[in-house]
Parts: sequence; C-alpha cells; structure tokens
Amino acid sequence: MKIGAPRESDPNENRVALVPETVERLVKAGHEIFIEQGAGTAAGFPDSAYAEAGAKTASATEMAGSVDIFVHVQPPTDDEVGALKTGSIVVSTLNARTNGPGVSGLASAGATALAMELVPRIARAQRMDVLSSQASIAGYKAALLAANSLGKYLPMMMTAAGTIPPAKILVLGAGVAGLQAIATAGRLGAVVEAFDVRAAAGEQVESLGAKFIQPPAAEDAEGAGGYAREQTEDEQAKQREFLKGHIAEADAVITTAAIPGRPAPLLMTEDMVDVMKPGSVVIDLAAESGGNVAGTVAGEIIDKNGVSINGPINVPSSMPFHASQLYSRNVMALFDLIIDKKEGTLNLDFEDEVIDTMCVAHEGEARHGLGE
Ligand code: NAI
Repeated sequence: MKIGAPRESDPNENRVALVPETVERLVKAGHEIFIEQGAGTAAGFPDSAYAEAGAKTASATEMAGSVDIFVHVQPPTDDEVGALKTGSIVVSTLNARTNGPGVSGLASAGATALAMELVPRIARAQRMDVLSSQASIAGYKAALLAANSLGKYLPMMMTAAGTIPPAKILVLGAGVAGLQAIATAGRLGAVVEAFDVRAAAGEQVESLGAKFIQPPAAEDAEGAGGYAREQTEDEQAKQREFLKGHIAEADAVITTAAIPGRPAPLLMTEDMVDVMKPGSVVIDLAAESGGNVAGTVAGEIIDKNGVSINGPINVPSSMPFHASQLYSRNVMALFDLIIDKKEGTLNLDFEDEVIDTMCVAHEGEARHGLGE
C-alpha cells in the first residue's frame, strides 16, 4: 500500500507522524512510503534518515492525491483534504469532538477518517493511545518548566552556608500527565502532593512516593472509560476550600485536570492564586481547553502579584523527537490492526470496537453524530 506523511504546516508543530524507524518497518513489510521533504527536520529526523529507511519524497498535496493512507499529527489542511483521493484513509489527531467542519470536510472528500484521539481506553488499544503517549511527555515537561521558572532549588540541599529545604509541588489532576509530573518532580527532589477526583488515582500517586490529598468525605468521581465525571457545584466549592490551604504552602502548582469533550474544570479561582507566595509558579497544562486556573492565558506566561501563571500550548511539540517516535509507534500499532499482514491490504473491520470508535467519517458521511 502507499502510505504518506507530510510536513506539519502548523507553525507550533514540530512533530512528524512517521519517523524513520516506522518507515523502515513499513518498507520491509512491502509498503511504499512517501515523506514530504523536511517533514522530520524539526523533530531531529533529517531527510537522509528517511531516504536510508527507504522512503520516497512527495509534496503534501501530491501524496494526498495518491496514497491509500495519509498520516498526520495535526488535522490535514483544507488544501490537503481537497486533494485527497476518494476512499483514502486519513489517520490523524482530528479534535473530532470539537471540530465539526473538519470532520464534515473529510466526509465530503470521501475519506475514511480515523481520529487518533478517540482510541478507546481498553487494554488492547493502549499501544495506539496517543493521548497517553503525548500526555506523559506534557507531564514530564510541566515539572521541568516549574523547576526552570522557580528561583529555588527543588531538592533539599545541605551546603556549607546552611540547609535549603526541598521545594513543595502540588499536582492537581493525577491522570497520565499528572502522574508523570509527580514522578519527574519527585526525581528532582521536590516534596510532592497531588489531588484527583478519582479515588483510584490515590494508589498510583502514593506508589510514586507522593502524598495523595483529598477533601474529607469526598465522593469518588470516576466516570465512563476511567475518565473523571464533571463535579457538582457543591463538590467544586468544597474542593476549592480544601485545596486553598495546600496551594498556599506550595512553591509550584501543576494543573492537568481535564474532562473529555468538555472545557477544563476551573480548579483554582483568583482568590486561590492570591494565597500563593510571590515567586511561586503555576503551570496550567489545561490552558488549551480553557485552563484550570483563573488568569491563565493559553500560550503566555502571566505575572499575577509575583506569581507566574504559565499556560503552555502543545507541550509535546516542545519535545518533538520522542513525541514523534511514540506517536509514530501508536500509528504503527493501528496499522497492525487495519492492514492484513499476509496480504498487505486494508482490512477495516467495523465490528471492531477500536475501529468503530475511532472512525469519524466513512463513505461520504460523518459518524457518531460528529461533523456540522
Ligand atoms: P484526562 O486527561 O481526561 O484528565 C486528567 C486528570 O484530571 C484525570 O486523572 C481526571 O480524573 C482529573 N480530573 C478531572 N476533573 C478534575 C477535578 N475537578 N479535580 C481534580 N482532578 C480532576 O485523563 P487521562 O490522564 O488521560 O486519564 C485518566 C485515567 O484513565 C488514567 O489515569 C488511567 O487510569 C486511565 N487510562 C486508561 C487507559 C487504558 O486503559 N487504555 C489509557 C490511558 C488512561
């Protein structure tokens, strides 16, 4: 089969959907692979590495018009969608739940669109789960951003000039990103506390050596698919009151709370930011979906009375080598599911929960009530 990955055109995107390691595997399996020139340069994968792995070059629209599977990190551009060959497969993060026009455009182009962000959370599909692979990078980076912007040591330091106590880091939301932020901050020597509305997160937090904090008599808020459900107003108010004391003590707060398909929950109101000491830092990983913190501006670092509120966007793209490598392995795991190994042909089984859930456009129609 012909498979192609173009250069991402979003100026904030340094990742690439296929890395040379994956290309080599696909070429060995008998597929013809096309990579746009410069597609991997920003991620540390030069054109020469793709050539060595057996890839051919083509422009984004040339490949959109000729390949059977068109692979992207960010949703394809209008020009690319316009050039797509009818019946081709598009594999990409599509932000399908919030991008109705994008899904409709792919349906009108006659593409079969598989949204990487919709991989169901079942054990069998973990190898394809880009939300997990990329969130883990974001969590790691969030801890480094906090360390980098604090004017303090993270570890305890015993020096000739006296002892420095370790920094205190509070992580709100202990899912994939939060757990990686906890692990990273812990490795750097900080004292870490974490909070999540899902009780199951407690054991994971504690296994990383951090302290799990919870308001007294809090109810477990685990919803479908291991994700959190939305909190009631009353639960939110109690939660905020409880967290305020811990926030006042923290040198850095890292927030990662999200609810799929909904705006991020507001965890820190303005009065909660106001209790922080000057020089302390907030890293709001939910900035792109509205932010967990009052005052967060996506893509900016705001100073609020000496407290720095950082709302980074597309954090995985700031570590593009490993982010691309993991994304590409997730895509490869999907290929293992949709390409018949013996025949090398496409085998899209809509009875399979993974394919059915991920497929947002097929044979001219948007699926699952998505699209405009
Ligand atoms: P996410 O990105 O949707 O949310 C991040 C975290 O924020 C979650 O832990 C959630 O409980 C928490 N949160 C939501 N509202 C909150 C609030 N008001 N206050 C505090 N915390 C709040 O979720 P993520 O990280 O993608 O996954 C959550 C869990 O799903 C994982 O920890 C894991 O147990 C499970 N999972 C299962 C997979 C599988 O079986 N294939 C793959 C990945 C995750």
